[in-house]
Amino acid sequence: DQDSTCSVTVVGASGDLAKKKIFPALFALFYEGYLPKHFTIYGYARSKMTNEQLRDMISTTLTCRIDQRENCGQKQEDFLKRCFYHAGQYDSEDSFKELDAKLREQEGDRTANRVFYLSIPPNIFVDVARCSSRAASSSNGYTRVIVEKPFGRDLQSSGELSQGLAEHLSEDQIYRIDHYLGKELVENLSVLRFSNLIFEPLWSRQFIRNVQIIFSEDFGTEGRGGYFDNYGIIRDIMQNHLLQLLALLAMEPPVSLAAEDIRNEKVKALRSMKPIRLEDVVVGQYKEHTSKSGVSYPAYTDDKTVPSNSITPTFSCIAMFIDNARWDGVPFLMKAGKALNDKRAEIRIQFRHVPGNLYKNSFGTDLDKATNELVMRVQPDEAIYLKINNKVPGLGVRLDRSNLNLQYAERYKKKEFPDSYERLILDVINGDKRLFIRDDELAAAWKLFTPLLKELEEKQVAPELYPYGSRGPIGAHYLAAKYNVRWGDQSV
Ligand code: BG6
Repeated sequence: DQDSTCSVTVVGASGDLAKKKIFPALFALFYEGYLPKHFTIYGYARSKMTNEQLRDMISTTLTCRIDQRENCGQKQEDFLKRCFYHAGQYDSEDSFKELDAKLREQEGDRTANRVFYLSIPPNIFVDVARCSSRAASSSNGYTRVIVEKPFGRDLQSSGELSQGLAEHLSEDQIYRIDHYLGKELVENLSVLRFSNLIFEPLWSRQFIRNVQIIFSEDFGTEGRGGYFDNYGIIRDIMQNHLLQLLALLAMEPPVSLAAEDIRNEKVKALRSMKPIRLEDVVVGQYKEHTSKSGVSYPAYTDDKTVPSNSITPTFSCIAMFIDNARWDGVPFLMKAGKALNDKRAEIRIQFRHVPGNLYKNSFGTDLDKATNELVMRVQPDEAIYLKINNKVPGLGVRLDRSNLNLQYAERYKKKEFPDSYERLILDVINGDKRLFIRDDELAAAWKLFTPLLKELEEKQVAPELYPYGSRGPIGAHYLAAKYNVRWGDQSV
């Protein structure tokens, strides 16, 4: 409403995430007119800094999308005027009290809504939650707190963190971000399934042979080794981002689009998953590679912040199963890796062979070549396409495989879509929890992965080394082959 104010305090304002994602997302929201008329942004961190210095720092990160070029400079200036800085300790109520006084000054006697974005390491989450809720909660509006992964390292530490937060905040106030849920194509997954007649009836073991959820990056952990070595690719990407995609893909139709209805179904899907067996897991780590042109790329362990004998996986591939009527026996293959040959995130659904296919001879002995495959490319170049068999025009009957193809860049002429952080921060301001992780959902995700992570650590499973920039360890192919699966992203 017109008379309320909203402040967003970015705790950990000088960190990487704040600079790269949070401030730019806030600016983009401002540009589009999504922020309330009266809003204030506070950067909070320990080091001394003036408002001007914070503004200088932020200004270097603000960009305007192609469709936002008009007045970009002026808008940036207007935005920066609303940004302030407060230096304080993370575990000091007094520091947050001072912030509270400053916020009040901005808020006047309007309804004051406050958002705290904890862009800080998890070991200080609880301190900040305590101090901010005791000393800087809004007295007449809402107070919401955004937290970012890592939410612990395993079921136990995540449970402790949840408990710690719950002492100071109600579940209602906590927004656990998984930025994959803010991606355009991920939101579209439900639309595709539930608003088209043609997919949902096929969405089961009866017609689907396997599902592949693939994440790859063409760069390593350069600069982030210190963080990464303590977590590894399974915690960094699979337990959260990829598992979220799996849950949305596999869940039963929710009663409605209300946040709790959707999250209820996701939790059920996660709780129906079979325990992961070590023999269904491949782990890898990238090693040094010198390209033909002589450029050399470092090994994971070349990073000075990584112990030279580290066995932390930078690649993993896992076959998972969902023990329910819809998915019994269907392999869900997840693959995630750093320092691979390309950068992409996609979901691939391979359908069964056509029973008694009249055209089987047109495919030689390789019926795999004839299966339909639905691909949702989350990034880059968002797209949805369906591989179908088609008659090559002309005399005689020759078939080939073609794509029914929805390329976003072509269909929706805008070149850039809002960043996931924009959507998610706006949802927090609006109190929409659909795209955030509920506490029981988080616990279910950890329950699934914790035994595997423990086993990998206890048995000191050595990762298969793969060259930087390659397609990853060969083990991923053997694992897929064990379940009669051919990776869709590597077919010719
Ligand atoms: C983060 C991981 O959560 O997601 C990073 O910590 C990873 O390791 C990143 O690079 C990938 O996000 P995106 O949006 O660039 O695909």
